[in-house]
Amino acid sequence: MFALKRTLAKPSRSILWKSLHTLPELTYSYDALVPIISKDIMELHHMKYHKTYVTNLNEIEKKMKEALSKQDVNEVARLTPYLKFNGGGHINHCIFWKNLSPEGGDPSEELCEAFTRDFGDFRGFKKELQTLANGIHGGGWAWLGYNRGYKRLELVALENQDPLEGTTGLVPLLGIDVFEHAYHLQYSNRRSQYVEKIFEIINWEDVSERYKEACTREPPAPLTFQRSD
Ligand SMILES: [Fe+2]
Repeated sequence: MFALKRTLAKPSRSILWKSLHTLPELTYSYDALVPIISKDIMELHHMKYHKTYVTNLNEIEKKMKEALSKQDVNEVARLTPYLKFNGGGHINHCIFWKNLSPEGGDPSEELCEAFTRDFGDFRGFKKELQTLANGIHGGGWAWLGYNRGYKRLELVALENQDPLEGTTGLVPLLGIDVFEHAYHLQYSNRRSQYVEKIFEIINWEDVSERYKEACTREPPAPLTFQRSD
């Protein structure tokens, strides 16, 4: 009786610090993107890499909350790059899985018009994005994003798992993962082949929907802090 009363009055730490982030289910099977992306790559990518980002993110958030509660600024600074890497890894892969589809499809009329406006045409956009993706040193992502301030599409290459919106303010529409874990088992060192073939399984319905939604969002408010001078 006493034990029950104590449990109700004071939840255990495991309940207080329960995981907030979870590995999302894919909407297609691991072999659905064959022959562009093999089943082995999809299993490894989703069940090992993405899952590890989620596990680490939850652990880092727990440590971050403890550090913030103690106003331990040194510990917060020590944890911050790990939060960015694993949090970015989770955000990026959640977008990536939805950006892909065995059905492929075509961009919406509005998105096609934006490609023409900002890159000359779709081929111009594709060539620029592929050049960016092939040029990234080491692991990283090539992104199509929407600049809410200038109301235009932009392409950005980011290293590591830096999240596009948190790093640049651009709204992510389409990301190409060029970490070796995304293609090396199937394409070996031929990243450019992977970057070419992935265009056959881009879920343009998802990208078009992200563009439509991004156009309705206000630009981010600038971060303003007091200056000492
Ligand atoms: Fe990845």
